[in-house]
Amino acid sequence: MESIIVEFQNCFIFILLLFFFSLLSYSFFKKPKGNFDLPPSPPSLPIIGYLELFFSALTQKYLQKLSSKYGPLLNLGIFNVPIILVSSASMVYEIFRVNDVNFSSRGVAAIDESLAFGSSGIIHAPYGDYWKFMKKLVATKMLGPQAQEQSRGIRAEELERFYKTLLDKAMKKEKVEILVETVRLINNSICKMSMGKSSVENNDSERVMILSAQLSALSMKFFLAKMLRNLLEKLGFSLFRKEIMGVSHRFEKLLDRIILEHEEKLDGNQDKDLMDAFLEAYRDENAEYKITKAHIKSLFVELFLGATDTSATATHWTMAEILHNPKVFERLREELDSVVGKTRLIQETDLPNLPYLQAVVKEGLRMHPPIPVFVRSSQKGCRIGGFYIEEKTTLMVNTYAVMRDSNSWEDPNEFKPERFLASSRKEDNIFNYIPFGSGRRRCPGSNLGSIFVGTAIGIMVQCFDWEIKGDKVNMEEATGRSFLTMAHPLRGIPFPRIINPLPCNV
Ligand code: HEM
Repeated sequence: MESIIVEFQNCFIFILLLFFFSLLSYSFFKKPKGNFDLPPSPPSLPIIGYLELFFSALTQKYLQKLSSKYGPLLNLGIFNVPIILVSSASMVYEIFRVNDVNFSSRGVAAIDESLAFGSSGIIHAPYGDYWKFMKKLVATKMLGPQAQEQSRGIRAEELERFYKTLLDKAMKKEKVEILVETVRLINNSICKMSMGKSSVENNDSERVMILSAQLSALSMKFFLAKMLRNLLEKLGFSLFRKEIMGVSHRFEKLLDRIILEHEEKLDGNQDKDLMDAFLEAYRDENAEYKITKAHIKSLFVELFLGATDTSATATHWTMAEILHNPKVFERLREELDSVVGKTRLIQETDLPNLPYLQAVVKEGLRMHPPIPVFVRSSQKGCRIGGFYIEEKTTLMVNTYAVMRDSNSWEDPNEFKPERFLASSRKEDNIFNYIPFGSGRRRCPGSNLGSIFVGTAIGIMVQCFDWEIKGDKVNMEEATGRSFLTMAHPLRGIPFPRIINPLPCNV
């Protein structure tokens, strides 16, 4: 972690030097297009503006402080290029309720050719025909209710494997690294759902997990490369290209082989997975949109990243909160015992009957959104909160600040799942609760993500008591990542309390 920060600091110094050497040519760079009433800017360094914010240790917290001092809509321009920071539910409402189509793209990719967050994936696809086609296919073949029902058995198998791993560790009195085991559970489930059951047996899921972790470790670099791309391109410079493309090439090699194996499958009647569906669309001459294999590979990489890190991080934080708040643990245990009992493992069809567990998951996501800041871009100029936002302006929505805003939430820094129980919910303001984003580019995997978190937490609380070193959980946030991760990963020794439960899929 320290090395990441040092690298960022070096990079910061490098960019500053770069800036001074290119000062003379600066006048040729982009200038504001008019004297529009842009949102206010807090005091900043001359010319480079808020470049420092990208190198600050805890971005979402730093941004939260700025907005609580200077307002919910701020212009944090760098080198005269406006970047708008959004930090309140009322601004989120204006953007995603009133101007959603205008903000339904994410601007330029960090590096076009990269399989992750590049220009052929879904995440940076502009709002248009390609995005609509891919989204529909992912919804019907993987994330929609019918597709999810068909893949329920896969998730049940993996959940049982997760339980057995914890039980094995419990028998040996070994510590469990909650994040590591949860990443494996979700990664295996996603791999089986998207590339077939054999992906776990032949270790492809393990390879995907390793490569995804490498990409994930570069998440802040992706963010920086994207945000500074337009400026640095003018100097013929591309940030972090070598590192990003190195992992992208390794991922591509793996996916090329998996695609080939799917194409060579002898028995056409074998179970169809998401890859089969996308290859069918690729071969379909009459498809609404003609996709390429590069599109398929990018989509898969982004699904692996989008699904696993987010859901595992949410589980990690939520479990930490539960162990940090013994009363929540007790109440959750009581609910699980009375609804599921002690003779079988929780399964995902139990979730609708477990309102407190659902409230715990929601509260975990409110306090610790895995993606604390998400990015959008305006298609054309418009007014938000009385200010003018120019076309092609980058918007950073600080979900962390919105969901900890004391104007919207009582005791925003306290873990109180009760606030999400029907009886105590005052009003439904969907714009102050945005862990999955908002509008038409909102996360399409929100339902599946909540299932992953709910069932993993369910198993850990239903089946085990936990001993944590020092008896206190350290809730400090890690630095240098664009995902919101724990500075001190949660480790605990599980003690089994349910003997020989029936599996989840009975
Ligand atoms: C707890 C789990 C999850 C969280 C907190 C989460 C959060 C998010 C957020 C904040 C966004 C950006 C939304 C916006 O711009 O408005 C997003 C986008 C996305 N997520 Fe998730 N996500 C989760 C799970 C998943 C899962 C399980 C999948 C798929 C299997 C998934 C696939 C995606 C995709 C494809 C996008 C891009 C959508 C687009 O650009 O149209 N996510 N997610």
